[in-house]
Amino acid sequence: KILILDFGSQYTQLIARSIRELNIYCEIKPCLQPVQWDDTIKGIILSGSPFSVNDAQAPSVDIAAMAAKVPVLGVCYGAQLMAKNFGGEVAKSTIREYGRAFMEHDNREEKLLYDISPRSQVWMSHSDSIVKLPAGFEVIATTDTIPVAAFKADKIAANPLLGLQFHPEVTHSLEGKLLLRNFLVHICGCKQDWTPAAFVQETIEKIRNQVGDKKVVMALSGGVDSTVAAELIHKAIGKNLYCVFVDNGLLRKDEYATVLDSYKHMGLNVKGVNAQELFYGELKGVSDPETKRKIIGRLFIEVFQQESTQLQDISFLGQGTIYPDVIESVSVNGPSVTIKSHHNVGGLPEKMKMGLVEPLRFLFKDEVRRVGREIGISEVFLGRHPFPGPGLAIRILGDITPDKVAMLQEADAIYIDGLRDAGLYDKVWQAGTILLPVQSVGVMGDERTYEFTIALRAVTSTDGMTADWAHLPYEFLAKMSNDIINRVKGINRVVYDISSKPPATIEWE
Ligand code: XMP
Repeated sequence: KILILDFGSQYTQLIARSIRELNIYCEIKPCLQPVQWDDTIKGIILSGSPFSVNDAQAPSVDIAAMAAKVPVLGVCYGAQLMAKNFGGEVAKSTIREYGRAFMEHDNREEKLLYDISPRSQVWMSHSDSIVKLPAGFEVIATTDTIPVAAFKADKIAANPLLGLQFHPEVTHSLEGKLLLRNFLVHICGCKQDWTPAAFVQETIEKIRNQVGDKKVVMALSGGVDSTVAAELIHKAIGKNLYCVFVDNGLLRKDEYATVLDSYKHMGLNVKGVNAQELFYGELKGVSDPETKRKIIGRLFIEVFQQESTQLQDISFLGQGTIYPDVIESVSVNGPSVTIKSHHNVGGLPEKMKMGLVEPLRFLFKDEVRRVGREIGISEVFLGRHPFPGPGLAIRILGDITPDKVAMLQEADAIYIDGLRDAGLYDKVWQAGTILLPVQSVGVMGDERTYEFTIALRAVTSTDGMTADWAHLPYEFLAKMSNDIINRVKGINRVVYDISSKPPATIEWE
């Protein structure tokens, strides 16, 4: 594997994704965390950073110690840090360089530059430049504006040191992936054999070794991650995996029954728990979004815990945690370590003295889908939009009643089916309906109505962190408005949400 040391660049995850797309496994580590050496580490990449290497608090690492063991590639800040640590000079550029540039070279024999065009488009994003390379380092490529676009040092350490001033990981560096391949394959000696099939085989073996003949319990949500994780664990330990699927009364129309049925068809040992009344009871009269979330979270844990304690000798909790949830990244305000842990079911593992089985802990979302496809999970699961844990509760503004849930479920089903029928479902990242606590006057037939409003939401996004409203065709919106008002009793008005995130959020609560 390859280690990527994160110095806080917004592009660090892109380096990891590019490497994995080359079928080579890699992990991101915070730069200041000491490297845990083992034989599987074949090379190290130092990421970019919002810092300047000349800042007093700029994070630094012992590159010489690393190069004593494996080849090291510095990217942007990483390259500047390398130059500075070995006695070179880095200074503020007179012109800051952002965007397109052309790397030029005539080094056909240079391993890092194998198959790279003599003039290759690269993407720059820096305000510092290397003005003097240390002794023993040589320039291997330049651009119009900077003399040191790429450099190497073969004889300073046991392994080569290399640096790129630009970002090979962004798609605008047209041959960036080739550069990474050259470093990984021709310099580090990695094999491109990390495929979904290899991952599945390796993971099943790992789970067997970890769990042995003990039992695992797991909560399923109907979403992609928990489904793929459960199926991997199921493949490894069969009937020793016990799954629980809770109906909190806040799922989409018919979802509980159809998803439970699919799980049974997959051969999963799954128990459906109908807890609708419990959730409705505790949510009665509650309007505050955060209070709703807390109540739903607490009840879910209570129900799940009650179910799992009925099972005998459970030693492990299975979870669909994925890589973006666990990456320890360096924050822009300083090299502090932040870890997100929202997937951890409310501290249950400690409370119930269980170990954790998290087969997707090192995968990105699209990799989870590839693995899911590899193990034959249906596209219906793999292509699903994200759906929030608190479900429809945070799409009913104000207090929740079973009637409101039923109304929203109808409107939502018409909208989601409509998106599918129009071939739009896969074009948007997430879609849903929101029931507004606003009644307005309408006229139906000869009668005056005074009913609720449904807001339609559809967004495009890659990770949900930022999003734009989807520009759905007017004809489609017109049809949805008609269908919902005609078919859902209690609704006489439909509006479309045209807010992006930021400043709005995807959900309304
Ligand atoms: P926002 O509304 O914050 O949503 O733009 C971003 C993504 O997160 C989902 N979301 C949640 N998921 N529990 C969840 O499991 C929650 O409380 C929650 N709130 C928002 C939302 O559906 C979107 O995909």
